[in-house]
Amino acid sequence: MKNAIHQKNIVLGVCGGIAAYKSVELLRLMTKKGAGVRVMMTPHACEFVGPMTFAALSGKPVCTDLFDSRNTDASIRHIEWAQDAHAVVIAPATANLLGKYANGTADDALSTFLLAVTCPVILCPSMNSNMYLSPPVQRNLETLRRDGHTVLEPGAGELACGTSGPGRLPEPEQILDRLMACLSPKDLTGKRVLVTAGPTQEPIDPVRFISNPSSGKMGYAIARAAEYRGAEVVLVSGPSALPDPLNVKTVRIRTAKEMAEAVFAHLDETDIVIKSAAVSDYRPKEVAEHKIKKGEAETHMILEQNEDILKSIGQRKKHQFLVGFAAETQSLRDNASAKLEKKNLDMIVGNIVIQPGSGFGSDTNRVTLFYRGGTQEALEQMDKDTVAHIILDRVMERIPPK
Ligand code: PMT
Repeated sequence: MKNAIHQKNIVLGVCGGIAAYKSVELLRLMTKKGAGVRVMMTPHACEFVGPMTFAALSGKPVCTDLFDSRNTDASIRHIEWAQDAHAVVIAPATANLLGKYANGTADDALSTFLLAVTCPVILCPSMNSNMYLSPPVQRNLETLRRDGHTVLEPGAGELACGTSGPGRLPEPEQILDRLMACLSPKDLTGKRVLVTAGPTQEPIDPVRFISNPSSGKMGYAIARAAEYRGAEVVLVSGPSALPDPLNVKTVRIRTAKEMAEAVFAHLDETDIVIKSAAVSDYRPKEVAEHKIKKGEAETHMILEQNEDILKSIGQRKKHQFLVGFAAETQSLRDNASAKLEKKNLDMIVGNIVIQPGSGFGSDTNRVTLFYRGGTQEALEQMDKDTVAHIILDRVMERIPPK
């Protein structure tokens, strides 16, 4: 499966608020993912950002007025826009728009259009904290939630009006994330998925450690994709700069030992395990209490083996579908197939980690999937989100229905 908004029609509604500038970035992110986006603006929104900006970035006319005779495509076709849309995102959604939508008022293009919409609507409130927390706005939000719309929690922090509190428009990436979740098929509903991601760090002394360049991007993409598709997800992550995915129970660990503990604490209640973490095979036998000082002579470090977590899961597994990863620099087929057998896996995802655009740190990966019975499937280089969805597709094709 491609990402959930690829070739989907999205209407982005923009209201008059200082955060309207963030909608420009949201539009860019949505079009980059392959969505066709039409923009509808309230007259007040046009005071903050010019319609030309949205028209240029979406490649489509922008609707600002139902009765604009110069723009027949965008003005009188708002009902057609409502029928064609797969999802609508209102960002920023002002108190005024929320009040009108909750009460069925239709007095401009956007509020009129919304009453004709039957697809999912995501509302992203953004306003002064006192306005946001005021009883009328909270009442309207409650009504809109009851009507089945998705309301995103605004962020808290310093606001443009100088006050501090809830009311900030969520970041464009977060809004895109919820749009993806909203439009994804829910084929993993009822499944419990355990994903590991990132590197481990094995301390040498308080300031040094053994590790590797894993960023966590591959594993986090799998965790997000599984959550979008309705699974209950636990993500056991080594040190990574990535934020916790929404609605995913994220357990942050440092060492292989801690990863093993977290994995085995969740294993029994898991249906699918996907181990994309780059676990250190060895750790220093002794960890110095203080920073090791430079000496004159050569020095040696004794390493001892970490538990092979994946192999232990393979030995213990009962009903779980077990997916491993193989990070190789050569002989991918031979090395990955050997790991599939030795660790009793159902499937292994092999990647040559020294190719550009593949493996550690990059946004893309080039993987080959190896299955039990000797079959394999080589995928082209693609973004890690798409790799994640294909892995989940292949897992679901192989899990017998309950
Ligand atoms: O995080 P990114 O920057 O996005 O990079 C992604 C990735 C390159 C880390 C990922 O695509 C990947 O290849 N992950 C596996 C890395 C790895 O440790 O491979 P391995 O071939 O050494 O290990 C084989 C399998 O055994 C892996 O599933 C690993 O999680 C597991 N293992 C290894 C050692 C150990 N002690 N315990 C384990 O469970």
